[in-house]
Amino acid sequence: MVKRKTKFMCQACGYESPKWMGKCPGCGEWNKMVEEVEVTGSNRRGAFAHSQGGTAALSKPAPITSIETVSEPRVLTDLKELNRVLGGGVVKGSLVLIGGDPGIGKSTLLLQVSSQLARKGNKVLYISGEESLRQTKLRADRLAISADTLFVYAETNLEQINRTIENESPGFVIIDSIQTIYHPEVTSAPGSVSQVRECTAELMRIGKTKGIAIFIVGHVTKEGSIAGPRLLEHMVDTVLYFEGERHHTYRILRAVKNRFGSTNEMGIFEMKEFGLEEVENPSEIFLEERSRGAAGSTVVASMEGTRPVLVEIQALISPTSFGNPRRMATGIDHNRVPLLMAVLEKRVGMLLQNQDAYLKVAGGVKLDEPAIDLAIAVSIASSFRDKPTKPTDCFIGEVGLTGEIRRVSRVEQRVQEAAKLGFERVILPRNNLSGWQAPAGIELIGVSSVREALRAAFGE
Ligand code: TYD
Ligand code: MG
Repeated sequence: MVKRKTKFMCQACGYESPKWMGKCPGCGEWNKMVEEVEVTGSNRRGAFAHSQGGTAALSKPAPITSIETVSEPRVLTDLKELNRVLGGGVVKGSLVLIGGDPGIGKSTLLLQVSSQLARKGNKVLYISGEESLRQTKLRADRLAISADTLFVYAETNLEQINRTIENESPGFVIIDSIQTIYHPEVTSAPGSVSQVRECTAELMRIGKTKGIAIFIVGHVTKEGSIAGPRLLEHMVDTVLYFEGERHHTYRILRAVKNRFGSTNEMGIFEMKEFGLEEVENPSEIFLEERSRGAAGSTVVASMEGTRPVLVEIQALISPTSFGNPRRMATGIDHNRVPLLMAVLEKRVGMLLQNQDAYLKVAGGVKLDEPAIDLAIAVSIASSFRDKPTKPTDCFIGEVGLTGEIRRVSRVEQRVQEAAKLGFERVILPRNNLSGWQAPAGIELIGVSSVREALRAAFGE
């Protein structure tokens, strides 16, 4: 028997409550509680139904030693960047959520991937709830895509979708997008918290019982009535975010969660006239537009997952004209900026308190590891003194509060990437110097304090 119950749910964090509240106790946001209808009873399929194989069969605990190890069967796409972000290809039976702003290129990416998988002999079902079959065909023509085993289907009713999957038994299903799909048993509107949740749970059940890999597109929305992909993160196996600035052609695919591989991997694509193309050497691109020899610009070798990338960090320090000095940062944690400025002020004696500071990572990348500290500090010093650093220098190191330069991970890979791109000197933590071999033609300068690093950078 199906029962319906009304409750209130926070659209930001999913907090549930029997009564309406102005402020959500879960996340502290205001006016986020909306009424939701909960469906209970025999027809309800919860998120964990698949763990019982979709039936009521009893499973028993087993000693861990008796369980056979099988590696996940994976299928490779033609996009190496995507394979790497997924942890080595698409895992059969996995549920992958691809989130991103509307218009960033999610449909384009998935249509390309669909045709690649289809051309390898897999049956792929691309379900579009947003575009008609004709529109999808137009896009496919533009991308020069065609494959006999790629099926497109314009449908938003989950029961119909379920039936079609049942009849067609594809190996891969793409749902574009989860916000347009609705479960007829759930009364709230498509895109609402309970619809998105129920539909995802149902898709997961279908995928897991039949071994179908399912990609779900989820639009990230600022706020409002549409439930975003954040709500689904705990339910799916893998969460990828497709990011980039609309004005730039570069797109970055990031793994935020991955049950079958490492997170923090990133894949870089370029949106061209005829679809997305992968970028194999991101460092070259990030350094392409660099103005060599300008004050305030340095290059850091940062690790993005397992891969080193060289990125330019720019600083602009200028006297504050009124009020409190401004500290702004894009692409790096904005809390690092005042912290590093305080270290420069106290440990190097640089008078920065009446200066505005603007920091930017060029190329729209986001960096969030401590090894970029030194490059930020040197950029700030370079702009403040209006003295450029050598364009062939690269900086690596975490900066501590006493001005010390702390050891970083994977220094060898970082230095290799710098050498590959023609850098001549790497200024790095002294503690990182031993235990590995530097490639030929690159000079390593070990430093143990910010003061020492600045001396090396400006040749004082
Ligand atoms: P789309 O994949 O529709 O975005 P999403 O599904 O994330 O909403 O991408 C739409 C944008 O991509 C649109 O602005 C046009 C651009 N685009 C290209 O530049 N080249 C192409 O080959 C295609 C198909 C789209
Ligand atoms: Mg789309």
